Amino acid sequence: MDLFEYQARDLFAEYGVPVLPGAVASTPEQARAAAEEIGCPVVIKAQVKTGGRGKAGGVQLADDPADAEAKARAILGMDIKGHTVHRVLVAKASDIAEEYYFSYLLDRSNRTFLAMASVQGGVEIEQVAVESPDALARIPIDARTGVDEAKAREIVAAARFPAAVAEQVVDVAQKLWTAFTGADATLVEVNPLVQDPAGTIIALDGKVTLDGNADFRHPEHAELDDTDAVDPLEREAVAKGLNYVKLDGEVGIIGNGAGLVMSTLDVVAYAGEEYAGVKPANFLDIGGGASAQVMADGLGIILGDPAVKSVFVNVFGGITACDEVANGIVQALHILGDKAVKPLVVRLDGNNVEEGRRILNESAHDLVEQLDTMDGAARRAAELASQA
Ligand SMILES: Nc1ncnc2c1ncn2[C@@H]1O[C@H](COP(=O)(O)OP(=O)(O)O)[C@@H](O)[C@H]1O
Ligand SMILES: [Mg+2]
Repeated sequence: MDLFEYQARDLFAEYGVPVLPGAVASTPEQARAAAEEIGCPVVIKAQVKTGGRGKAGGVQLADDPADAEAKARAILGMDIKGHTVHRVLVAKASDIAEEYYFSYLLDRSNRTFLAMASVQGGVEIEQVAVESPDALARIPIDARTGVDEAKAREIVAAARFPAAVAEQVVDVAQKLWTAFTGADATLVEVNPLVQDPAGTIIALDGKVTLDGNADFRHPEHAELDDTDAVDPLEREAVAKGLNYVKLDGEVGIIGNGAGLVMSTLDVVAYAGEEYAGVKPANFLDIGGGASAQVMADGLGIILGDPAVKSVFVNVFGGITACDEVANGIVQALHILGDKAVKPLVVRLDGNNVEEGRRILNESAHDLVEQLDTMDGAARRAAELASQA
């Protein structure tokens, strides 16, 4: 889960990383009140989970509370790279002497953690990495030892931070590492980390990604979730314990096993090229041991998506044999009753496939059509979706 900047700022503050006074506001009036409280000038910052807000006009200086209200009014509701602004952060404005870059991240390809730091911050770091790779220090971090003072000094030296701020950055580097591990993050990024004219180091912007695999250790993370932004079908799927991701096509997909479902998405997208460019409408892995109820829940969610025109059920019988899956489909259709209104193309293979196919044939449901191969079924599902 990615955090909003104001949430990242709260996390930094909790771990002693220096941040500016600030408050979040969702109305222009709240922004005005926050500006009065904090003391002007302030900066009004769009809270959206994407970078480049500054360039998009989502970061604006306000000289007094009335100006803060006006700027907040202009920024709230703005669309930044497809993200609507629902909240702004009202932060104390700082004069900036220099802008640096500092981050920790999980470096999956090298199976380690990585510190990245540069004295050329503020701008997009990808650009620095391409145009002047030497200006971006990359220091691997051993998960067992983490960032102690010596490691922090190594990072600060490698990035060539000016001597005048080195001690402060060493301190911030250690605190940021504590925040990174304490929150079980896979990324903490500060861009810019600034030096103000008085020589003080401050984290002016923050980006944090939390590791969802560690959610069980952090009940407090649940409230950071931006439930407004989650697709309602995905929310319903989570509530039912289903592994569902909404996509933007027309062919609903159900399969067992993430690998099979992924390849099903591919064959449907490929087949769709011949049928008006229809595409998969979702990812849904019902896993092994798919009971009738799980099948009904999955079908229910897929049929609840108005974009879906046909459904492709692609199951390879393993521990859960095809006859059980077939019974599951029959019962699911029974449970759904007249909510099942879209054609269903079923491809069963694997353990007990004959019995599974027999059960489906015998049930002779109007909406169900069986095909023997994955490609054939994908084509048929795409065709049905294109005709609807
Ligand atoms: N509190 C602040 N005071 C003064 N300038 C700021 C403040 N916050 C951001 N800025 C300026 O705006 C720029 C962009 O803001 P930032 O928070 O980094 O957003 P983004 O990375 O999404 O563009 C910063 O590089 C900095 O120059
Ligand atoms: Mg930034």
